[in-house]
Amino acid sequence: MWKPILKKFAIIATFLTIISNILIFTYPSLHPTRCSWRCSTRTNEIDVSSLSLFERITYYSNRYFHDVKEQLFNDNKGELNVDDEDDIHLLAFGDPQIKGIWHNTPYKSRLDIYGNDYYLGHIYSMMQRRLHPSHVAILGDLFSSQWIGDSEFFNRTTRYMNRIFKRDTTTWLKDLKEREHDENGQYRVDWSKWADQFKANAASKNFSFGYNDVYSWDPENENYLFINLTGNHDVGYSGDATYQHMARYHEVFGKDNFWIEYETDTNHPWRIVVLNSLLLEGPALQPEFIENNWEFLYQLFERRFNGSTVLLTHVPLYKEEGLCVDGPLFRYYPDDYKPEPYKKNLLRSQNHLGEAVTNKVLNLVFDNDKPGIILNGHDHEGCETSYNRINGTWFATRDVDQTSDFHVKEYTVRSMMGEFNGNTGLVTGHFDKNTMTWNWYFTLCPFGLQHFWWFAKASAIITGFVWSLVFLI
Ligand SMILES: *[C@@H]1O[C@H](CO)[C@@H](O)[C@H](O)[C@H]1NC(C)=O
Ligand SMILES: *[C@@H]1O[C@H](CO)[C@@H](O)[C@H](O)[C@H]1NC(C)=O
Repeated sequence: MWKPILKKFAIIATFLTIISNILIFTYPSLHPTRCSWRCSTRTNEIDVSSLSLFERITYYSNRYFHDVKEQLFNDNKGELNVDDEDDIHLLAFGDPQIKGIWHNTPYKSRLDIYGNDYYLGHIYSMMQRRLHPSHVAILGDLFSSQWIGDSEFFNRTTRYMNRIFKRDTTTWLKDLKEREHDENGQYRVDWSKWADQFKANAASKNFSFGYNDVYSWDPENENYLFINLTGNHDVGYSGDATYQHMARYHEVFGKDNFWIEYETDTNHPWRIVVLNSLLLEGPALQPEFIENNWEFLYQLFERRFNGSTVLLTHVPLYKEEGLCVDGPLFRYYPDDYKPEPYKKNLLRSQNHLGEAVTNKVLNLVFDNDKPGIILNGHDHEGCETSYNRINGTWFATRDVDQTSDFHVKEYTVRSMMGEFNGNTGLVTGHFDKNTMTWNWYFTLCPFGLQHFWWFAKASAIITGFVWSLVFLI
């Protein structure tokens, strides 16, 4: 007598599994405009406020099915005009902040963390497949804590690379561990070697910060440029950052400060500037890191670059309370800080860069009056701000201040974590041949509720289980 009931249940479960899996594999089609590069042939969304419920449903489903069809049968490039072929297409991800599993982590959290890696990986592969970006930037806070040992840092790097960003680095990581490990064979960074190199570079002011026309670090295997950024959870705030933090970050994620100049011999040069925003102000544990960061900015300024700039950082620039969810906040270690007395009075955390530091950074990076864009993370909620300049002084407003002589927009990218709906930031750079300037556009593509992803995965498992019961009993 159980069989018919089970069978009915199995049919319903199958149906739900199919629908939910179709949705998670086509979710950008629910927001086609927000989840596509800006391009001249894509018409903007219509205003639905005057439509009836029925008309809205029809409009949204037409839009959805149209986009799904396009994804299935056309290469996305078909949507672009010849005029857009040289556009820059950058995917920006904020704060993945992956957590660790320890021996006392409860099973439910373990499952959560494990599933979360694949959830983030799903978002990344969907966006990669749909959009074929030219650049991918992870805006810092790759991991959830700066207080982890080298072995855990190594293990999270492995998850970050393999599960989320689908990079086959197994041999590379294995070699690294073979080169540098402790007596138990676990990864241990040789930070004193890195420190010696750092000090030698600092003495000669020779850091080789710059690159030219790099479109991939590994052209044989990938046709886009993958950019990692430091977050406070990766290297610490300046009161925390040690040689060990910096050495292991450099070893697996590359430089913390660099620029790449593109197409400098054309009429449309542009550049990417990656700035380690954690080490611009103190009091710092290792003040020489701060000096090094400013040296980077001075060398950048000395280039007298004549093109457009994409500035990538982790910590947002200074703004007054009320413009974004986070207001200005600085915390310092107290005088009698018992756990680590040597940290007393050092910078413990910050929501923004300081006001004077912000002004200086903007003047050094956007000195040539060419349009640009600033992307960062850190606050998780996301925000859009305009930095306006009047006589060399910058101030932030929500909308562009029309009295200013120059402005740059800052996009604080909402986090890709499930709690914030798994977002991807899409940046399109388009060179307008009429005005001879680069224009920058930003949109945010949300995944939607994380639970939906879990539902799709869990219902697939349950469906399989129920069908096997039906056939067994
Ligand atoms: C990292 O992974 C290795 C291999 O799975 C394991 O032996 C080691 O204990 C892990 N490290 C930490 C800190 O959990
Ligand atoms: C950035 O991190 C990825 C790992 O996800 C790594 O493969 C890549 O080499 C890093 N980039 C640089 C420039 O080191």
